[in-house]
Amino acid sequence: MTKVRKRKIKIKKKNFLIFIIFLLLITITFSKITSLLLNLSTNNKEKTEEKKEFSETEKKLKKLNNVNKKITYFKINNLDRYLAYQNKNKKLNTTQIIKDVNMDLDKEPYEDMNEAKNLNKTNILVNKHNYLRKNYVPENLEKINTRYALSDMSLVNEAKNAFEKMSSTALNENLKIIAMSTYRSYEYQVNLYNNYVKSDGKDAADTYSGRPGNSEHQTGLAVDVYNQKENYTNFEKTEEYIWMQNNAYKYGFILRFPKGKEKETGYEFESWHYRYVGKSIAKEIKERNISLEEYIATH
Ligand code: DAL
Ligand code: ZN
Repeated sequence: MTKVRKRKIKIKKKNFLIFIIFLLLITITFSKITSLLLNLSTNNKEKTEEKKEFSETEKKLKKLNNVNKKITYFKINNLDRYLAYQNKNKKLNTTQIIKDVNMDLDKEPYEDMNEAKNLNKTNILVNKHNYLRKNYVPENLEKINTRYALSDMSLVNEAKNAFEKMSSTALNENLKIIAMSTYRSYEYQVNLYNNYVKSDGKDAADTYSGRPGNSEHQTGLAVDVYNQKENYTNFEKTEEYIWMQNNAYKYGFILRFPKGKEKETGYEFESWHYRYVGKSIAKEIKERNISLEEYIATH
């Protein structure tokens, strides 16, 4: 082979190598650009979808007069329920719609219930929309001194102490506030409710008795009282009732099923049934003239 030919082959090889490297570079750049473009387009898609979803929520909020910015207890998770309830109750204002739905009034009693939150706390809510499990027994149950109660009456320690204090103050004024039904187990409520159903029928029983799991007597924070002279159903007519109206809140108790709050509480007026919620909640409930349901729905 001549020298010239050898050189020519060398140059060809070099050119070929340069060509291959160039090809490789082109391929890498091309794939990089393609993936970048693909990414951009999926990002844009996601963004438009997000925007779409966002504007859907905005539209819904507009229908509710954008109250979410003004009402602290507005719950975004309830948005669709607020709208459905508004459609069925056109005359209600938006604030009422939010309160009602927060109280689950858009649902039938006992329908699609929630398990009660705040177990063993004084702000627990048990009603026809919030239930306790069969095996729920509150912590720290203690018997009330029989000076202020029938025998074997237990409340959660904090409520028991408050009750004894309240009843003892009333006694100093010659008034008797005596506990006659306090903590009731699930099984106890089964018997009680079944007996009411047998004697009065289910519909009537539901107006004055909690179903098993739905009675707040199972919380150990509820107490039925009487004055040892009148039947408890006549408590409304006693001096003790007036005293309780003026003083119960100072000890952390509220009248749990007041007149005019039947829609919210789900029960008829019960002058004898009190519930321990602690002094601060009791004071607010008294001042605002609201039920426990309304208190919880607006916090
Ligand atoms: N009497 C009340 C509603 C109860 O049974 O819990
Ligand atoms: Zn009761």
